Amino acid sequence: MRKLIVANYKMNGNKKLFADIVKKINKYKVKDTKIVLCPPFVYLDEFKIKSNSVFLGCQDITNIDNSKSTGQISPNMLHEFSVKYVIVGHSERRSLGENDELINEKVHVCINNDLMPIICVGEKKKSDKLDAVLTQIQSALKGIEKSYVPIIAYEPVWAIGTGKLPTVSRINKVADMIRSYISDLGYKNSVVLYGGSVSAQNYDEIINANIDGLLLGGVSLKFDEFIEIVKGIDHV
Ligand code: 13P
Repeated sequence: MRKLIVANYKMNGNKKLFADIVKKINKYKVKDTKIVLCPPFVYLDEFKIKSNSVFLGCQDITNIDNSKSTGQISPNMLHEFSVKYVIVGHSERRSLGENDELINEKVHVCINNDLMPIICVGEKKKSDKLDAVLTQIQSALKGIEKSYVPIIAYEPVWAIGTGKLPTVSRINKVADMIRSYISDLGYKNSVVLYGGSVSAQNYDEIINANIDGLLLGGVSLKFDEFIEIVKGIDHV
């Protein structure tokens, strides 16, 4: 399966930086990966992607698709910019008060509108039990058809932006646990990504883990390092 590499720019970047990233990514010949770029909403229009292996994503979506939602972004708006993927339930949004119910509503809005949610899950502290991760998955997928292939990004909160990484064996353990749990829920397949402090210096270790790709934060803003990771995975 082609590995999926997702760039979450979070609340970073500007027109100049994204124009540069788009110019460079349009020149890059992707071999065997799928790349998803998730800029802040206001910069979506800067992303005129010319490669059929590079897709546009975003970092959030409305939970209720109606017109009386000040400040929200609807699926139709995202379609206008050819957005295909949506990061849902990122821990940085959960920390602002998004709960499992709201995240489940957002997953439904995505799937009902032909958008692929990338559902973020992860324990808060390294010492936390991993049951919380399974509860997040179970809640996010409530009512979602079993023919669907869930994309889950395992992002331990303690590893995001801290430079601290789980060992490969821990990532393997959690990825296997997620896959078997999703299978127990009745889904035939799943895509499991890892995210949290992945860099050009450590990705080769992480990519040996039993995962289907990466969700990258800070390193996405440094194109040379981002593309080094893509190449390392793409050209194997
Ligand atoms: P960092 O790669 O900056 O740790 O962020 C990971 C992340 O939160 C991606 O969604």
